[in-house]
Amino acid sequence: MPFDIQRVRQETPGCHNVLHFNNAGASLMPQPVLDATIGYIQLEAQIGGYEAAGQMRDKLEHTYDAIATLIHCSRDEVAMIENATRAWDMAFYSIPFSPGDRILTSMAEYASNYIAFLQVAQKTGAVVEAIPNDQYGQISIEQLRQVIDERVKLIAITHVPTGGGLVNPAAEVGKVARAAGIPYLLDACQSVGQMPIDVEQIGCDLLSATGRKYLRGPRGTGFLYVRRSLLERLDPPFLDLHAAEWVARDHYVVRSDARRFETWETNYAGKIGLGVAVDYALQQGLDVTWRRIKNLAYTLRTRLSPLPGVIVHDRGVTQCGIVTFSVEGIEPAEIKRKLSEQAINAWTSERGSTLLDMEARGLTSLVRASVHYYNTEDEIERFCTTLEAMI
Ligand SMILES: Cc1ncc(COP(=O)(O)O)c(C=O)c1O
Repeated sequence: MPFDIQRVRQETPGCHNVLHFNNAGASLMPQPVLDATIGYIQLEAQIGGYEAAGQMRDKLEHTYDAIATLIHCSRDEVAMIENATRAWDMAFYSIPFSPGDRILTSMAEYASNYIAFLQVAQKTGAVVEAIPNDQYGQISIEQLRQVIDERVKLIAITHVPTGGGLVNPAAEVGKVARAAGIPYLLDACQSVGQMPIDVEQIGCDLLSATGRKYLRGPRGTGFLYVRRSLLERLDPPFLDLHAAEWVARDHYVVRSDARRFETWETNYAGKIGLGVAVDYALQQGLDVTWRRIKNLAYTLRTRLSPLPGVIVHDRGVTQCGIVTFSVEGIEPAEIKRKLSEQAINAWTSERGSTLLDMEARGLTSLVRASVHYYNTEDEIERFCTTLEAMI
């Protein structure tokens, strides 16, 4: 089906209220996601929470199938977790580290992940090392290859960082990880829903994602993918009676599928909504929407660059829908505030979110304008003229 921008916007109620360039924060939900999520909560209120879960079992289970289709894995390799951070944590904190073990990461690593590296390094004596970027500002595959040895216990990188258009060459990293037999954890929080993701093609063993960003799902949803061959070797940092079965007084058995990383209680309405969001993304066609997102972002960068005092900061060979820039003499927070007065949503990226990267580039704060496929050229024009009037 050809991409129908009119229809997509009609199905996005938020489009009528705001010019939304904060899709890397949280996208505007489409109507079918809203209907499914609200409908589920109403059902809970009408017949009871446990009873609603029973009645909607098939739809709840469908979300696993939808995610499996989206990222090209099997449904038993998917765990649904309330956000990308906890999904990532459940994977990372399952890996045993010993003194001298090495964790390799990227310069663009997200703060929450890096804080976890530091905590585990302090507790276990493992060391964390960020692989330098190449001349394009993406992780250097050459440098990664060079530092691999038998002490590397994990490669964990961010696919698309929170504060920039960079798309790290995840599949190239996957080739290195596979050749060396090293587990590979990919933070795909900002890329899932934005571009086609195939865990086989990328070669990652673990992948974390969130629902509210490019997937357009409800907040408080996310998931973890765990490759089958690794699943039973990973001991989750927390277990409950859903993740494991208490079979005898002093004995429990952990589930064999990825749901060993879940908890019994969960956001059922969110789970339903996420399933519908994934279906919606698949219906639009990830190839089609990814091309459109890249084109819109390219147009925005091209329109912003010549404006007086404006510097566009995005790096990488492939650049995605996240556009970051600064304006001489005006704080990013001030720009965000002024845009918001005109019903234009943008965000800021701060030093502490990707400290290694921001320090290396001598940056403290940037405006982040992140576009989605439901945005338009007209919106880009309005965004830029509004900005122009400020500078
Ligand atoms: C690269 C990256 N990883 C992880 C996260 C955390 O995701 P969540 O807020 O769903 O836990 C974010 C959020 O902005 C992010 O940008």
